[in-house]
Amino acid sequence: MTEQILNMNQITKTYYMGEEEQVVLNQINLTIHKGDFVAVLGPSGSGKSTLMNIIGCLDSPTSGSYILSDQKVDELDEVELAAIRNKEVGFVFQQFQLLPRLSAIQNVELPLVYAKLPEKERKQKARDMLIRVGLGEKLHNRPNQLSGGQQQRVAIARAMVTEPTILLADEPTGALDQKTGQQIMELFHELHEEGKTIIMITHDVEIAKNASRIVRILDGKLQEEHVHV
Ligand SMILES: Nc1ncnc2c1ncn2[C@@H]1O[C@H](COP(=O)(O)OP(=O)(O)OP(=O)(O)O)[C@@H](O)[C@H]1O
Ligand SMILES: [Mg+2]
Repeated sequence: MTEQILNMNQITKTYYMGEEEQVVLNQINLTIHKGDFVAVLGPSGSGKSTLMNIIGCLDSPTSGSYILSDQKVDELDEVELAAIRNKEVGFVFQQFQLLPRLSAIQNVELPLVYAKLPEKERKQKARDMLIRVGLGEKLHNRPNQLSGGQQQRVAIARAMVTEPTILLADEPTGALDQKTGQQIMELFHELHEEGKTIIMITHDVEIAKNASRIVRILDGKLQEEHVHV
């Protein structure tokens, strides 16, 4: 038995717009183990980002229980939520979300500034991580001096530099052409082989096929698609 990293039990998320009630997630169950590479696949509006925000402790469910790294997330206060988020989750977004005035290495360093690591250690870790994602030659480039694929690599390095339990990516190839997107998927494969747990949200079946497990989200329900090894 591999270690369980997260468990969702009967998670429901309901949005209220005036009188209108919309059940986006309807009593879903999901268990993810250490080292899994899971794709969450679903059409636009199906609730993928809603699910990601709950997984990443950015939003809370309307009901149900959520356990992340043995902690009952639904019982945590704001301060504890921020702490678990910083420690357990590395986020990667479609639009990279880099700070434009900072260089690649400064962007990657930033989570370590918040973690109050000494500068020398920060620089070393950030540099190592940028080398790891293939950007050793671009440490001092700002985002607008990098290609889209390179910017996403910086964002992945930033997400990984704190050694989070989960790499959580929402449409990580959505802003990239197919070839560049596939290169990012190759990087995910390598990280997965090194033991990283990856959860990737996508509407693209071809991108989802890179994962070792696909979970489909439709009409508020999750369905296990297939598992290949
Ligand atoms: N804060 C909110 N308030 C009200 N409704 C919301 C809110 N956030 C999302 N929704 C609704 O919940 C549904 C799911 O939205 P969500 O963003 O999770 O979809 P998605 O699968 O990520 O879509 P996309 O592929 O377009 O990013 C949509 O119908 C959306 O309008
Ligand atoms: Mg979305």
